[in-house]
Amino acid sequence: MDRIPIYKPLIGEEEVEAASAALSHGWLGMGSCVEEFELAVQKVVDAESRRVLAVSTGYAALHLGLVLAGAGPGDEVIVPSFAHLADLQAILAVGAAPVLCDIDDATLCIDVDQAAELVGPHTRAIIPVDYGCHLCDHRALAGLVESTGVRIVHDAAHSFGAAEDDAMIGSFSDICMFSFDPVKAVSCIDAGALLVRTDAELAQAREMRVLGSTQPAEVMYQNARQWSYDATAPGYRYHLSNVHAAIGLAQLAKLDEIRSSRQAACERYCQRLAGVEGITVPVADVSRLNPFLYYVRVDAGCRDAFRDHLAVRGIDTGIHWTPAHTMTLFQLCRRGPLGVTERAAAEVVSLPLHSAMPEAVVDRVCDAAVSFFA
Ligand SMILES: Cc1ncc(COP(=O)(O)O)c(C=O)c1O
Repeated sequence: MDRIPIYKPLIGEEEVEAASAALSHGWLGMGSCVEEFELAVQKVVDAESRRVLAVSTGYAALHLGLVLAGAGPGDEVIVPSFAHLADLQAILAVGAAPVLCDIDDATLCIDVDQAAELVGPHTRAIIPVDYGCHLCDHRALAGLVESTGVRIVHDAAHSFGAAEDDAMIGSFSDICMFSFDPVKAVSCIDAGALLVRTDAELAQAREMRVLGSTQPAEVMYQNARQWSYDATAPGYRYHLSNVHAAIGLAQLAKLDEIRSSRQAACERYCQRLAGVEGITVPVADVSRLNPFLYYVRVDAGCRDAFRDHLAVRGIDTGIHWTPAHTMTLFQLCRRGPLGVTERAAAEVVSLPLHSAMPEAVVDRVCDAAVSFFA
């Protein structure tokens, strides 16, 4: 019986050839493929009014996004406790304090009403995180930005290639980031992207990406470098290599296949599992999404047994996520009431979701899940 992993990359000859071509350029570092990747991301997310910066990881994009938002020592950044650790660590990296917010019970994304209540004199930014097959209430967040002046650093690591109504994710947020890490629907093995609104923000982010140096991106994009440069601000080693960017370009060429197959798998899960007593499926229209993960909720008291039942049938499951307020580093953070987070974090179980996942594989997971509750 084959094991069904929770993630499975869709890597084929195309990615191998792209990596191999990039390796034979003779320029392994940041170069022409990175500029191509940035332009391709901008096109895919229909973000003509945004500037795209490719970086080494999604975490790096979050960190730079928070710097651009002006977050620093003495500031607060509101973030769901139910978030990726990278969100929390990026806040600490700029010297700001995370303020932990609850989530909406239906979407497990930030509770915008509570976020509004948590906004205080020191709030500099909010990090809304799109989760699994849901998007945040971006309209309500835009209203909050308008009334408070706080910046948004939108964590869209789970929603690259998705659209809300007719607007692609990445095309409308104040500052937005994507992750292309090893398990994402579209992967560069490791990479991130930051989307900003102004040339000034792009210029600042470009310098921070290369150790705060004035090394011009235009020169590096020709697989070359300048030997004299200045440094005027702190920076980080966050640049992306040509090889990673080339793999990303090959993945982007498969985006339609990736997106439609993941949608089909989520729809099949929903079809098979909705109505099964003991399982709560997410209520989501995935037809405009590119879902990164599919989760269900089960009673907290039987979650371990449910996961064991699947494991002995060769099916991996996961838990996204351990909430921040339960972690040593964040337990003393200012926070709102976290009742929904507490409940959801004890109930969620991520099921395997792959690009090009055969229906029979989804069905095997569903059969196992249904048999637990039978
Ligand atoms: C929601 C979310 N935010 C941020 C990150 C961090 O991205 P990366 O792994 O590229 O640093 C991840 C990675 O899994 C994520 O899922």
